Amino acid sequence: MKSFDIRTKIYFGDNALDRLTEIPYKRILVITDPFIAKSGMLRLITDRLRQSETEFDVFSDVVPDPPLDRITKGVEYLLGFDPDCVIAIGGGSAIDSAKSIREFSTRINGKDIALIAIPTTSGTGSEVTSFAVVSDPEKDMKYPIVSDSMLPTEAILDAELVKSVPASVTADTGMDVFTHATEAYVSVNNNEFSAALAEKAIEICGTFLLRSYLDNNDTHARKKMHVASCLAGLAFNSASLGLNHGIAHAVGAKFHIPHGRANAIVLPHVIEFNSGINKHSKSQKEYPKCVEKYCNIAKLLGVSNFNEITTIRALIGWIQFMNKEMNIPLSFSQCGIPREEYMAAINEMAEKAVADTCTATNPKHVSKGEVCILLEAMYD
Ligand SMILES: NC(=O)c1ccc[n+]([C@@H]2O[C@H](COP(=O)([O-])OP(=O)(O)OC[C@H]3O[C@@H](n4cnc5c(N)ncnc54)[C@H](O)[C@@H]3O)[C@@H](O)[C@H]2O)c1
Ligand SMILES: [Fe+2]
Repeated sequence: MKSFDIRTKIYFGDNALDRLTEIPYKRILVITDPFIAKSGMLRLITDRLRQSETEFDVFSDVVPDPPLDRITKGVEYLLGFDPDCVIAIGGGSAIDSAKSIREFSTRINGKDIALIAIPTTSGTGSEVTSFAVVSDPEKDMKYPIVSDSMLPTEAILDAELVKSVPASVTADTGMDVFTHATEAYVSVNNNEFSAALAEKAIEICGTFLLRSYLDNNDTHARKKMHVASCLAGLAFNSASLGLNHGIAHAVGAKFHIPHGRANAIVLPHVIEFNSGINKHSKSQKEYPKCVEKYCNIAKLLGVSNFNEITTIRALIGWIQFMNKEMNIPLSFSQCGIPREEYMAAINEMAEKAVADTCTATNPKHVSKGEVCILLEAMYD
């Protein structure tokens, strides 16, 4: 038996932030990062909270790829302020921090606290997922925490907030959206509901990702990508992810590469591995099941070709084209990681990638040895 639900209420479209003037909460802790706190974005939230006569405080100590000690600091802060609602505003790092801080606080004091997630990047979909990723810098680890109790109560998608995102972050986070949709689409847990959401997210990435990268003022493209990010989040919240995220977490934790960029570099290799197109070129019946799905993705992007092999090559070509156009490095060597350091870490990274929760739903079983070979290929 399977089930599907969307528990987070989503407010979107023009003036979606006005939802904050009518929320029923009285004591609110806003969690964000220092950049958002200093920019005008935080005021867009606090001005509205003042209109609704709520008491609020701000915790702005979030850092990218939130480490455990910051989460602990946030838990202490939250317990001291004792809110009935948390508002998370920022990229995936701020939203994941808020989800983890609320989760651990509730485990301590048993209090139900509402969570409103307001993304300022179009990338992680964290505003609608039961996932949060926290880092342990001492062990070079990134841990996905997965629990339905992490789901935000409400998500507010207001594309006004993504206008200031620099081009390189648009590129990285946009490829994160595409990777979420692709991995959910081919995951062993995929279903008709997650597939519908993933297909729409892929279609939007095909039409609007490059547009939003090339022109900061293309409001229409930015609005579309903001919705695509949420659709892809809903898709993988139901179907989960795969080996791509397992590897990206391991390499990202070790060498501190932005999450979406790591995914973009890994994706061509994982598609080639999962589809097995290098191994054989016989009849269609012998292809793994995911080949048909990758071909559907190519069709949605308008790069479908004569047969399965050429179509998957065209899909990989599209990803490499997007990476090149958006100045995303094509390999980990291009990220500036020294060869010896990278090669010395392959065994450890492969171990972590295989053990990562996301890898469990990859369409093809993968051994540590196979991940070592993939990691080696991704360097050059
Ligand atoms: N919870 C999930 O389901 C999920 C899914 C994928 C990734 N993640 C995690 O999310 C994190 C990455 O999140 P991200 O890609 O959104 O990046 P991020 O939150 O780390 O932000 C990247 C940078 O962009 C800046 N920024 C954010 N919004 C901005 C804006 N509107 N204008 C200008 N600058 C802005 C931030 O201050 C930061 O410096 C990673 O830790 C990753 O592992 C979580
Ligand atoms: Fe991701």
